[in-house]
Order: sequence, then structure tokens, then C-alpha cells
Amino acid sequence: MVFEGNALGREKRIEAPAGAELVDLCDETLAPIAFSCRSASCGTCQVEVVQGAELLEAPSEVERELLEVLGHPDNVRLACQAKVRAGHGLVRLRPAGG
Ligand code: FES
Repeated sequence: MVFEGNALGREKRIEAPAGAELVDLCDETLAPIAFSCRSASCGTCQVEVVQGAELLEAPSEVERELLEVLGHPDNVRLACQAKVRAGHGLVRLRPAGG
């Protein structure tokens, strides 16, 4: 998994176990993705999935609802809600605002 660099920090590349939540991976590795509530309320943790969307679990209803309110396209996810699926491949993320 690759977290693209931004003002919060440099690019990070990590191995991610199946079922891991993106927010925990960001927190554990100090990846440059901001987050706050961890409960699909604030929208701080929006990430653009640049590559590998198929390697993430489908968004839950609560995640879809907030992304819809925020007006984001399908390639944006909430790091506090998105989980990694089992399998091999590369997921590339970049901050999407918030
Ligand atoms: S941290 Fe608040 S919506 Fe994800």
C-alpha cells in the first residue's frame, strides 16, 4: 500500500494485512493522512484511491452516506471506514481534502 506524501509527511509504503482499516494503518505508520472522529462523522480522513480500489472492501452504508453528503465521486473513501481485502496488489492513496 502506498500513501502519497503531502504537507503532513512523506510517501509511505507498507504491507497491509487483510481486514486492516486504513485509519489504523495510517496511524501505525504515521502516513500523511489526517483523521479525527474515526466514525464516519467529520470527513477529515477522505482519501482518493488512485489505484487498487478492488483491494478494498465495499463502502458501508454509513460511509456511502457521508461521501454522498460531501459530494465525492466513487474513487474517494473514508480511511476510518475502508478495510483492506485479502489478496495481493497495490493500493495507492492520496489525501482528498476534508
Ligand atoms: S476520521 Fe472522521 S470521517 Fe473518518
